[in-house]
Amino acid sequence: MAHAEAYKDPGTPQEQSRRTFMAQATIALGGVIGISLAIPLVTSMIPSADASNEQWSPLTPDEVAMLKKATANTPVKVTFDVHETNGYFGAADSEQFVWAVRASDAEMEKARPELYNGPDKLPYPVVNMGFTVFSPLCPHLGCRYSYNEAQKKFLCPCHGSEYNVLGVHEAGPALRGLDPLPLRDYQGKVQVSWILYQANTPAHVVIQVG
Ligand code: FES
Repeated sequence: MAHAEAYKDPGTPQEQSRRTFMAQATIALGGVIGISLAIPLVTSMIPSADASNEQWSPLTPDEVAMLKKATANTPVKVTFDVHETNGYFGAADSEQFVWAVRASDAEMEKARPELYNGPDKLPYPVVNMGFTVFSPLCPHLGCRYSYNEAQKKFLCPCHGSEYNVLGVHEAGPALRGLDPLPLRDYQGKVQVSWILYQANTPAHVVIQVG
């Protein structure tokens, strides 16, 4: 058989099922490796709640006032400056935003048990000061989603992922719900830590903090 023909030949049913098995085994192995890598990355890179380090960005009084407008049914967008420090450019601020929703731990744990127990448990509180703040990046491929008041859902314009107000994934190709970010009240200042999580994985794999 000519070389080009060989690529077109689908093979016998046995060969096809062997190839399918090998492809599925490779994907499954990749998932196991991804999850096992995710756990040390999450715990080692995320700032602790009592650390006075550079990885926390303060909210201004106006931004805190905006945060406090969030209710259980009406999330609000809170814009703030992410404070970054790196070896090349020193300190720099870049504007970002989070989506804040008012929630209790009991509600959030019921809706998002994976964030509280098991291998994808987050190493920081999901609810702080009565609020959860979500990264504005869709966990599918990182587009910015928005809140649709009529549908009471977060909708991503890129590929149609949908999430309820507690960030539960309800439709579309995303592999996990919305990503809560660390929030704290530290010495009288409300602060957020900006974490970039890997897109398109079921687990929380940290790419960058701050
Ligand atoms: S990036 Fe949001 S659905 Fe694809």
